[in-house]
Amino acid sequence: MESVFYHNASRVNEGDFLAILFHCPWDNADQWLAALQAALPNEEFRIWPDLGAVEEIDFAMVWKLPHGILSALPNLAAISSLGAGVDALIEDPDLPRHIPIARLVDPLMTDRMAEYVCATVLHHHLGLDVYDEHQRRQYWQRNPTTDARDRTVALLGLGQMGRRCAQRLGALGFNLAGWSRGSNDVVGVQCSHGRGNLEGVLQAADITVVLLPLTGQTINLMDRVAFNAMRPGSHVINCSRGELVVDADLIAALDAGQLAGATLDAFREEPLPRGHPLWRHPKVRVTPHIASLSAPDTAALILADQVRRARNRQHLADTINIEHGY
Ligand code: GLV
Repeated sequence: MESVFYHNASRVNEGDFLAILFHCPWDNADQWLAALQAALPNEEFRIWPDLGAVEEIDFAMVWKLPHGILSALPNLAAISSLGAGVDALIEDPDLPRHIPIARLVDPLMTDRMAEYVCATVLHHHLGLDVYDEHQRRQYWQRNPTTDARDRTVALLGLGQMGRRCAQRLGALGFNLAGWSRGSNDVVGVQCSHGRGNLEGVLQAADITVVLLPLTGQTINLMDRVAFNAMRPGSHVINCSRGELVVDADLIAALDAGQLAGATLDAFREEPLPRGHPLWRHPKVRVTPHIASLSAPDTAALILADQVRRARNRQHLADTINIEHGY
């Protein structure tokens, strides 16, 4: 595999000037750049769209870069996403597929995701959404309690984030089921894999947490069929991408009482447009894609290490399998 790493390196001579392409469309782009410059003080960053001499760029750190830019960099040797997901990169029809592409795997983001999942699972588990509604009506009523050991949480996706969530939820005492594309073995989790086994996992769960990457196999996975397979009165939490959920099917399942509630952190269109039915649905809790925000200070150290690896012709960490799409 070593040979793919500097596929174009023969075109860059020893001592040639090298630069890093940076594109961050977030509000805190300045903070990102400052953290990266501190971690890589001797590097020159080219901030899209000011690319300068394109042949000097050998590394790209990007999020939602317009399509067609990466393929116009003749000496690009590696790409790193500024987030955990790479779906926006893979959507680029001109993506240079022969060079290594890395996800951002930051233990801090993994912890943040686990905190979000534990908080939202506990919210549903304790029926706090019901008490929120009671409070609005000044209505005092104690509902029966269910213990964590009598609840099953299904984790769809058993990557780093899914496994960390499993650890934390297991420590809280929940029964855990897990589902993934390929086979997986996670301590304390009843694991299944493959599309044919999804229904069984959904049927077993009181709360289903979607942590899968967006790929050709997972798009629209949570549709009418999936919601009908879920236990009546169960909850769904989506921390992945909006495209995994068919919104109209979710709303129909909530309105029919098949599902008791949904917590959604990701949407097909972000920001979720004003007036979208999900904003106002009484059984839906909306958060603005904050479950696992990337953190410039820790990410910069990880990205700096990736640059050093690429320059030393070493394997990058956390590269994706382009055929799997993550
Ligand atoms: C956020 O959605 C990410 O992919 O990091």
